[in-house]
Amino acid sequence: MITKDLLLYLANKYGTPLYVYDFDEIKNKVFDFKRAFKARKSLICYALKANSNLSLLSYLASLDCGADCVSINEVKRALKAGIPKYKIIYSGVGKSDLDIKEALELDILFLNLESVEEMLRVETIAKDLGKSARISIRVNPNVDAKTHPYISTGLRENKFGVNIESAKKMYIYAGNSKFLHPIGIHFHIGSQLVELSPITQSANKIVELIFGLLALKLDLKFIDIGGGIGIKYNDEKTIDIYSYAQGILKEMQGLDLSIICEPGRYIVGDCGVLISKILYEKQNENKRFCIVDAAMNDLIRPALYNAKHKIEYISVDTNQKSHIPDLLKDNTRFQEYADIVGPICESGDYIAKHIKIPRTKAGDLIIIKSAGAYGFSMSSNYNSRLKCAEVAIINGKDKLIRKRENFEDLIANELPYLN
Ligand code: LLP
Repeated sequence: MITKDLLLYLANKYGTPLYVYDFDEIKNKVFDFKRAFKARKSLICYALKANSNLSLLSYLASLDCGADCVSINEVKRALKAGIPKYKIIYSGVGKSDLDIKEALELDILFLNLESVEEMLRVETIAKDLGKSARISIRVNPNVDAKTHPYISTGLRENKFGVNIESAKKMYIYAGNSKFLHPIGIHFHIGSQLVELSPITQSANKIVELIFGLLALKLDLKFIDIGGGIGIKYNDEKTIDIYSYAQGILKEMQGLDLSIICEPGRYIVGDCGVLISKILYEKQNENKRFCIVDAAMNDLIRPALYNAKHKIEYISVDTNQKSHIPDLLKDNTRFQEYADIVGPICESGDYIAKHIKIPRTKAGDLIIIKSAGAYGFSMSSNYNSRLKCAEVAIINGKDKLIRKRENFEDLIANELPYLN
């Protein structure tokens, strides 16, 4: 459990902004998932894109998790962290020839293919390597996932996967190829899903396709049901993990395939926070701003998806008194609601809008909740800002798992124009 005192201590010890992850809580999430699917052979391939810190991955490896990767470097991260190659899968609409070659050489469990052209490319590369490539095809079931349009992936107009008809033809082709070995089938309709029915509806379509393929003597071993389970950022109702598993298992009746699931956010989202420090308060006309030291480069979700993360405020005993001379005192009425904004030069750089927060002072802290997924992993160096440090809480103890960047790290790969 991460208490307020612990957060204060960590902010002092490591500085801010700071990502803190509760590994003990992550373990609980993994066990929730395992328990829910225990009736079947199943493998959790954690979606690295949510948070790919190596220590986190090693921890998940120790809990027997596999990895769902979307770039060859994610595959390499997973291997480096000790996730066995036979538990690693690799998806993505735009794998290059080199990506495919490396993935085949690394001999991972399978590649999830997203187009006919990609399949033919994989076949050629496998042939050159004298291998048969284990593959799965991502099927786009054309179901509305009812989530934010940027993270909805299972509709005809989305770039992901192939439709059911094309998938069938691809499986028949692959089944007849010496260099392709179709062993899985995949669907993933979106992220932050809060309704179960689009998932079961999709599973239903995929299972029907699987029965058709088995009748054609295709020897499929895995159904990869993707990720996407939403978490509670605010008051939204979310999918209960047991109902989710039951819903999938019900659709799978009569089918003897191992289940692969690819949760990301569910495993880490709620188990992480971003600590940030108040730098200033200001009031422009009737609008109040709290300016903090975290910005959209640290957490882009509010700016990109209008995501609303809960914010907790911690007043810190700083011994600092703000001395504002009478002349400069603002006589407009104090606004109870404020926007929490970062130092980046964009109006879109905000952490939260219009939230109720007491008058703050420099040095106070805000805790941005549910920031474990798609927080650090989407961070950047925009405005030449340094990426945050990351700390894990394991067995109640804190451990630095990523050093804060410094200026030298920032410019390390840049070469002088003049020499
Ligand atoms: N599998 C596939 C094929 C995916 O595309 C994704 C997420 C996942 C699994 C994991 O989904 P999860 O269980 O984490 O929902 N940056 C966005 C989320 C993008 C998700 C992309 N794909 C955000 O911050 O909300």
